[in-house]
Amino acid sequence: MQGETLGLVANEGTANVRIVLVSSEAVPFAKTGGLADVVTGLARALYRAGHDVTIILPDHRQFVPSSLTGESTGVALSVWLNDQKVQAWIRKTHLPDSRISVLLIDHPGYFDRQGLYGEGGHDYPDNAERYLFFSRAALEAIAQLDLHPDIIHANDWQTGVIPAVLHEEYSHQPGFERTATVFTIHNMAFQGMFPAEVMRLTNLPSQFFNWQQMEFHGKVNLLKTGISFAHRVTTVSPTYAREITTPEYGYGLEGALSARGEDLVGILNGVDTSEWNPNADHHLPQRYEARSVGRGKPICRAELLHEMKLPRRTEGMLCGMVSRMTDQKGFDLILPAMESLLATGSSFVFLGNGDPVVERKLKNLGEAFPEQFAVRIGYDERLAHRIEAGIDLFLMPSRFEPCGLNQMYSLLYGSPPLVHRVGGLADSVVDTNPETLAAGTANGFAFSDYNVESFIETFHRALATWRDRPTWEKIVQNGMIPDISWNRSASLYAGLYERAIASRCQSNS
Ligand code: ADP
Ligand code: GLC
Repeated sequence: MQGETLGLVANEGTANVRIVLVSSEAVPFAKTGGLADVVTGLARALYRAGHDVTIILPDHRQFVPSSLTGESTGVALSVWLNDQKVQAWIRKTHLPDSRISVLLIDHPGYFDRQGLYGEGGHDYPDNAERYLFFSRAALEAIAQLDLHPDIIHANDWQTGVIPAVLHEEYSHQPGFERTATVFTIHNMAFQGMFPAEVMRLTNLPSQFFNWQQMEFHGKVNLLKTGISFAHRVTTVSPTYAREITTPEYGYGLEGALSARGEDLVGILNGVDTSEWNPNADHHLPQRYEARSVGRGKPICRAELLHEMKLPRRTEGMLCGMVSRMTDQKGFDLILPAMESLLATGSSFVFLGNGDPVVERKLKNLGEAFPEQFAVRIGYDERLAHRIEAGIDLFLMPSRFEPCGLNQMYSLLYGSPPLVHRVGGLADSVVDTNPETLAAGTANGFAFSDYNVESFIETFHRALATWRDRPTWEKIVQNGMIPDISWNRSASLYAGLYERAIASRCQSNS
């Protein structure tokens, strides 16, 4: 039992379900977006609930903190990609301040690069090969280290082939007799689509290349592969789970998703409160909680204005945004609306990077309105925390949003979010109106029609509420007090894992 001698079979006595989470990113090892926060937050909550959790990641060496590079397990593995045998090593480390094992698949040729998926706005040309390799290597690592999982939980297209390979090659091997697969979709906009020749690299039967399994308009589609073969499919909010069965949000896979019926479930992401808690946040100049937000936030606000070189004035609402700069995130509303929003005397702080056209337009606004508009292009964890704490209103008018984490961070930081009512934004933000105020649920502002007029009108409603201090204080409290940590969502995943295991066992019998 190589796994046990390496200490990989943890949590003895408390384990309910043995779960292996496989992902291309997880904080603090590598991150391009919310997926990384979700894998780590979910793993910690499952572990706290007594489950046995291991995470498997590619060893994206450039991004792994030096204190977490771990040690070699001495275990090598090899994987066939078409007729090429590819070898790698397994390193073992752990999540910070935790006993949760993290296995890193170490193949410098594939993973020791400047970017995760590409550089300079271009995807790496061998992404199919890299992540097909990673997916198969994860299964081999599980086999060689005797992890005997009840559940392999794969995430997004990078690991979409795992349920198919398990089904075809591993399901009757020792250690996998009970293993069920769960596949989580974090974003339908990224499907991992590659030319038909890539089918050969998968080493799966060519019959799988059909419209009900791996093929999509003549291409190999790895997201579809995960959707078709997993025992259960989840996505990251109940509303997005409904939306993606429609042509508007399904990106052509609405049929494949509808075909899964009740096997497709939406579970809202939680917040990892060990990272995002204004009362324990070492990035903030002043920590605060719901009772002390009135004292803490003005200090964070003043520091943020200073850091972003904006005048430390007190009049005017301060709005913020932390985001990847892509079509998804609503910049086609924000940019045309901005002059009208600035005319209200409000100020803006933007942090993000991505689309060079959006970056340039935001910089232009910063130059035209230096007293009111500040932008930082780049990725900056510390500043992201300081913005969440220092602003009054968080902007997140995404065109679509599977879940979204920043609106939830801003709720916890007492900065009500203004959102487009879609996906996880609809499931976490309650628009402020007389009824929701009376019910004590109002915690932000939401609009339904995705157009510039609705966005501006909602901004004016938020501004009027901000000027009405007692009402504003109520919605701030409504956002800060409820428990939106991972605990609830992790118990929903645990229930789903049980159902996936049961259906795997049924199909065995
Ligand atoms: P998505 O995954 O679609 O980008 P989410 O809201 O789920 O959106 O998650 C985004 C995560 O990335 C959040 O943790 C957010 O704070 C972080 N983030 C995005 N852009 C930046 C940035 N420029 N600097 C720091 N953190 C960022
Ligand atoms: C994706 C989605 C985002 C979600 C995140 C984590 O990046 O765009 O809405 O919060 O995954 O699930």
